[in-house]
Amino acid sequence: MTAHELEITARALVAPGKGILAADESHGTIEKRFKSISLQNTEDNRRAYRDMLFTTPGAEEFISGVILYDETIRQNAHDGTPFPQLLESKGIIPGIKVDLGAKPLALAEGETITEGLDGLRERLAEHRELGARFTKWRAVITIGAAIPSDTCLRANAHGLARFAALSQEAGLVPIVEPEVLMDGDHDISRHAEVTQRTLRIVFDTLAEHRVRLEAMLLKPNMVLSGKECPQQASVAEAAEATLRCMKRTVPVAVPGLVFLSGGQSDARATEHLNAMNSGSAAPWELGFSFGRALQAPALKAWAGQSGNIAAARRALLHRSRCNGAARLGIYSATMEAV
Ligand code: 13P
Repeated sequence: MTAHELEITARALVAPGKGILAADESHGTIEKRFKSISLQNTEDNRRAYRDMLFTTPGAEEFISGVILYDETIRQNAHDGTPFPQLLESKGIIPGIKVDLGAKPLALAEGETITEGLDGLRERLAEHRELGARFTKWRAVITIGAAIPSDTCLRANAHGLARFAALSQEAGLVPIVEPEVLMDGDHDISRHAEVTQRTLRIVFDTLAEHRVRLEAMLLKPNMVLSGKECPQQASVAEAAEATLRCMKRTVPVAVPGLVFLSGGQSDARATEHLNAMNSGSAAPWELGFSFGRALQAPALKAWAGQSGNIAAARRALLHRSRCNGAARLGIYSATMEAV
């Protein structure tokens, strides 16, 4: 893929009115999600669940891309079509999570480092062969009294930059995801300060590794009050704090930001996205790459029963439509009433 083609793919992923469905849960994470509906975490249940999501009629109006997991990119829909080809046929761009998860960072209590660089060049070539056109790598940053340390931020930024450079070399658009968790009792200004520090180091390191900013996307956390913080910021405050932080740190050469939902309620994530898109124009597309905030109501409606597939697809389509509207700044709570 030429440099120009990568830029076209990056821009297509943040097309106005659309966003990304993150369906790249590792076996451990999908186990947690399935537990909430008392469903066994078997390969076939995972396949059936993703099949239900990806074959939702009309989702392509609001969904530009889907992030798959290594197992999923090798699986087929119920009619035998491999998932990547099925998505392409609907005009949805298939992508793949290529990190191998966050592991404890040695000699750094409470901090993690994302692994997966060894053999990554070969895995990327294989994923591209299987139909992936973009990739994702997630670094996890935890806020505590004395963390994150600069050591942790630099180590994770190095991983993200190596991943992004290798992805571009392989003809894949990297989605760089440094997630500063909302877990904890910190207030919104602390979340802003840590997110800002993280993004500065990430973009310095991307530049050092010659990553082409025009051919990547950033997947940031929104800047929010910690989940256990007694003082919860309003939607307008969170949107303003998030945009201020991004404007201070993210070069305008990056075509778009695709926010993660990070454990916010689905409606709240939509409200925040809408607030950011309804203000004065930002220098990048402000998109979404939601996992839980798109899937949660569909998972609940499905509950592992084939008789519930139609209801589950309606739930996914509804959240996709709401977030598509939020991309344009035209979402309102009345949309939830239908
Ligand atoms: P959430 O939107 O559920 O945070 O998931 C997005 C994601 O891909 C995390 O890596």
